[in-house]
Amino acid sequence: MSRIEEKFLETFGEEPDLVAAAPGRVNLIGEHIDYSDGFVLPFAIKDRTLVAARKRSDSTVRIASAQRRNKVVTVDINQVKPGLKGEWERYALGVLWSLGVKDGVDLMIDGHVPLGAGLSSSAALECSVATAMNHLFDLGFNLEELARLTQKAENQYVGVPCGIMDQSVSLMATQGSALLLDCRDLSTKNIPFDVASSGLELLIIDTQAHHALTDGGYAERRASCESAVAKLGITSLRELTIEKLQESSALLTETEFIRVRHAVTEMKRVLDCVDALSASDFEKVGQLINQSHASLRDDYTVSCPELDTAVDAALAAGALGSRMVGGGFGGSAIALIQASKTTETIKAIEKAFSQKGFKAPRFFTSLPSQGAELLSRR
Ligand code: GLA
Repeated sequence: MSRIEEKFLETFGEEPDLVAAAPGRVNLIGEHIDYSDGFVLPFAIKDRTLVAARKRSDSTVRIASAQRRNKVVTVDINQVKPGLKGEWERYALGVLWSLGVKDGVDLMIDGHVPLGAGLSSSAALECSVATAMNHLFDLGFNLEELARLTQKAENQYVGVPCGIMDQSVSLMATQGSALLLDCRDLSTKNIPFDVASSGLELLIIDTQAHHALTDGGYAERRASCESAVAKLGITSLRELTIEKLQESSALLTETEFIRVRHAVTEMKRVLDCVDALSASDFEKVGQLINQSHASLRDDYTVSCPELDTAVDAALAAGALGSRMVGGGFGGSAIALIQASKTTETIKAIEKAFSQKGFKAPRFFTSLPSQGAELLSRR
């Protein structure tokens, strides 16, 4: 019996019907443009969240998590609606609600995606629960539908105005590839991402910084993009080119202009990065990653001193490229480095953090891994 099956048995007194899993993510490039219908290029990391589930014959939902000492939260499925108060379990309950689950169920969660590191532990939780429910109740949703429904759970039930990138990659990623996702129609293309055979490594640096700005700052960036779209009379920023933006600059406030400039240039960088990857031109990939960071720092203003320090120290230690990933204001950065320089780079970043009096960062590496899957079924 696996660890999660044992925990399920220990907590609920019976064996689960099935076990599903979904990973966290890092984003190679394409930041803060999923909600503007852009292209993004994330990949799934090896760390994932597991969920074991069992159908019940009544309307009770019981949820426990190995990370919360298996404490059981109990609620009637008929009460599961936006507005119901709760803690971490809202991410799981929101998915039951958005998928339209009407029956009772027991759920045991075991999460291995680092929490609060900007690696989408919340999407991993949502997508593991969605995958489990889709199989357990034969709901028949395809991956695009599951991505939209898990995003709906986070937007409407948990109340976080996120885009569609994290849930999509957690559900759709393929081992060995980054996922080129068109956020306009959720079409995808696997882009082989094999840095190891070129002697490189993608280092993930968790700055351990969490700035309070996160929620308001994210919503404020989205709002600037939406007001610009309205003023320009277009459907989304995807329709703009940098030339058209320059011509229409008088219609926008200065803040809207720089936010939109980030979005338009970032969309192009994603496609350029796909070309560079297919040519194994990692110098170019590094340059694009650096430009992305500068744009997020200067035009989108979602970086923070810890992220900038990580990026600057990685570059000073010889990284080909480095940038913040995810929503920003803390969380993680990535650095594309020579594999032989991993220890040296880590030391350089640690030194820079300690000199500035920041909390020590954490480091991870991960190859592109598989998206959500059913692991076992009785
Ligand atoms: C967070 C959101 C995503 C995306 C990124 C920024 O991770 O959940 O939808 O907007 O920020 O690219």
